[in-house]
Amino acid sequence: LGGVALAAWGRQEGLRGMIEELSEIGRPAGGSIRSGVSRVGYTDEDIAGRRYVMQKMRETGGVVRVDAAGNIFARREGRERGLAPVLVGSHVDTVPEGGNFDGVLGALAAVEVLRGAGATRRGIEAVVWACEEATFAGASLNGSRAAVGRMGAEELQVVWRGMTKAEAIRRIGGRPEELESARIQPGAYHAYVELHIEQGGRLEKAGVPIGVVEGIVGVDRYEVVVRGEANHAGTTPMAERKDALVAASQVTLAVREIVMSEPGEQVGTVGYLEVKPNAANVVPGEARLLVEMRDLSSAKLEALGAKIRKRVEAIAGESGLRIDMIRRGRNEPALADAGIAGRIEATARGLGLGTMRMASGAGHDAQMMARVMPMGMVFVPSAGGVSHSPREWTEWEDCERGARVLREVVLGLAG
Ligand code: GLV
Ligand code: MN
Ligand code: MN
Repeated sequence: LGGVALAAWGRQEGLRGMIEELSEIGRPAGGSIRSGVSRVGYTDEDIAGRRYVMQKMRETGGVVRVDAAGNIFARREGRERGLAPVLVGSHVDTVPEGGNFDGVLGALAAVEVLRGAGATRRGIEAVVWACEEATFAGASLNGSRAAVGRMGAEELQVVWRGMTKAEAIRRIGGRPEELESARIQPGAYHAYVELHIEQGGRLEKAGVPIGVVEGIVGVDRYEVVVRGEANHAGTTPMAERKDALVAASQVTLAVREIVMSEPGEQVGTVGYLEVKPNAANVVPGEARLLVEMRDLSSAKLEALGAKIRKRVEAIAGESGLRIDMIRRGRNEPALADAGIAGRIEATARGLGLGTMRMASGAGHDAQMMARVMPMGMVFVPSAGGVSHSPREWTEWEDCERGARVLREVVLGLAG
């Protein structure tokens, strides 16, 4: 694993110890846990992080397996083998220059649940989903999507940074040619529970330690590719240019304008832009951007996408450039199971912790699990409401509180 600093693992115990250790994998040189982390899905850092978690899972006595999509599972059998187990987990990949709690908290708390579980009726399985973040051509929830049959053959051929998704999956130990085998069969699990940081500021502002998720917003993503003509920046007259970046900028501004043109809480972002050849003295010949939009209503996302597409066509017409807008992902909004939400609420209150019901504006693997089993999510506060940033932080007491609630809920479901 060229260039990836591997920690001497196992120095530290417990949830905090594991979060601190894992934070070293993908940490900027000379930094601390406060410097954030880059452990982008399918990269060397991701592979090293996954290896760390697998080691921790084995230490609990769980039996570890990696499915065809690269998802990592560790099972602890229950007393009654015929009963469907409870699934609990999250992810350990991050956005570039991300934080040390998004995904990591829930994934390592799941390992702790496994470690501390006594003899339950149902088995308990901890899971780390492969590449949860939208870092591969704008597609997110990669492992959990494959697990519900929503990653087709076409997507396996998508190329990102010189690698097909099939190659990327193989890289982390998956078997893309057998992707179908990663599918979770109906009735295979009793329920799915995920602990996660809120990534917004509502819990902190309200002074409430535990969020009970009622639903998760849907996300639509598009890749927009603008093809202009690279040419000399000194000798090409302004009126004769086919400047791909200028058109890409118009698209970016149009996304904001269109998303803001309707009432509601929908959001739209262009967070990725690639310019070729990206030199001061060359008129940009090609630009590639990723557009994403989020809302609790799929119909609204669809309508906004159509409006943007229309505008993109107009920009192409006016500029004389070729612009393609390709859908790169749709994660449907999902509802949490009312029974599990009630259980989370009651459990937290039983532990003397205040709760607040809320929708999640961030996407989660739980969204996919809701398609095949009852799902519930526990949120804990994010300091300053910051996430997807090195400044992302959750106080250790809040991490522990969330982990305690998660543990009680999972043990309760496992019986
Ligand atoms: C996942 O972190 C997301 O993009 O919401
Ligand atoms: Mn994230
Ligand atoms: Mn996450």
